[in-house]
Amino acid sequence: MAESYVLTNARLAPVEHEAGYSMPGAIVVDSGMIAFAGPDDETPQQYQGAPRRSLGGRVVTPGLIDCHTHLVYHGSRAREFEMRLTGATYEEIMRAGGGIFSTVEATRAASNEALLSGALSRVDRMIGEGVTTIEIKSGYGLDVETELRMLRTARAIETHRPVRIRTTFLGAHAFPKQMSADEYLTQICLPALDAAADEGLVDAVDGFCENIAFSAAQIERVFEHAAKRGLPVKLHAEQLSDQGGAKLAARFQGLSADHLEFLSDEGVSAMAEAGTVAVLLPGAFYMLKETRKPPVERLRAAGVPMALATDCNPGSSPMTSILLAMNMGATLFGLSPQECLEGVTSNAAKALGLPDAGQIKAGMRADLAIWDVDDPAELTYRIGDAPLHERIFGGVAC
Ligand code: NIG
Ligand code: FE
Repeated sequence: MAESYVLTNARLAPVEHEAGYSMPGAIVVDSGMIAFAGPDDETPQQYQGAPRRSLGGRVVTPGLIDCHTHLVYHGSRAREFEMRLTGATYEEIMRAGGGIFSTVEATRAASNEALLSGALSRVDRMIGEGVTTIEIKSGYGLDVETELRMLRTARAIETHRPVRIRTTFLGAHAFPKQMSADEYLTQICLPALDAAADEGLVDAVDGFCENIAFSAAQIERVFEHAAKRGLPVKLHAEQLSDQGGAKLAARFQGLSADHLEFLSDEGVSAMAEAGTVAVLLPGAFYMLKETRKPPVERLRAAGVPMALATDCNPGSSPMTSILLAMNMGATLFGLSPQECLEGVTSNAAKALGLPDAGQIKAGMRADLAIWDVDDPAELTYRIGDAPLHERIFGGVAC
């Protein structure tokens, strides 16, 4: 294919524009990067002779970014879902040895091939919705070898599919019953983090700060270790109770704090000051029948960037649809369609510390999604419909 080409007659979104958050224009792709995006008649002279393709007025967005998933796992938790439907809570099931622990057992027992093929089937559904970047966490191993296998499996996805993967070490997700949280951190989690980082498998470090998992003081140990290794942090914070996790993540200049249903005003201010992104996960909120919502109005007023993600995992959010996460972000949390789109593009890129993704502008990777719609609000509005026309990954249609 040509080194450079021009996509014309497109509707670019999301963009800053006086008439809304989309505008008609053209995109020049050169060597896998966006060289220009803007009004067609301003296309740089040097690309006047490049091949041109009209998109017929279709909406073009950055390739969507799912910035919080646990999609490498094995087994199903459908039985627990049934238990929750008849009154058991997520916490009760986990305290009884189910929940995350049942997925740990299944994941440890799974072969590398089974882990990869399960992950690829979920990745394929995401690709079918215009996703070009996916964050994947470990955290269903809770032993050194399985944590490493999860991260290696996540990274291997890039060699099987045209998608960009960012891996997050989530050893501090739960701790085995036979030891205390601190023993687990000392004996398993921190050595696993070192082994994973030595192997170059870690883009960021995460934890589960919750009364059924790790305290803020214990997560601080993990963050200090991450800082020593020069790795950025993010945190599952304030999902089921207020543990001061968001404030802790902000203190470590965290990329993001995620869930946040129980976030305090203090947490909001700390995140605003540190530039920590609020990653909202409406799939988990919905699935756990949570009634307390993240403080969207306060986050918005404080200028905290908000992202949306699937939280794809077998327990609290068995969901692969980023478009459904957008719809839920609007209907359940009150985000506007523009905020929902920014939540899976520019703000999701910020939550991953990616400077070259999530926006349609010169200098970004040419990861794009072309949609069979003429209004970007359609992406948030529709349910169960992925109007993807074409996906472009690194400049190549696929
Ligand atoms: O993001 N909250 C902790 N971790 C996941 C759920 C993991 C699980 O239940 O398997 C979450 O909701
Ligand atoms: Fe999660």
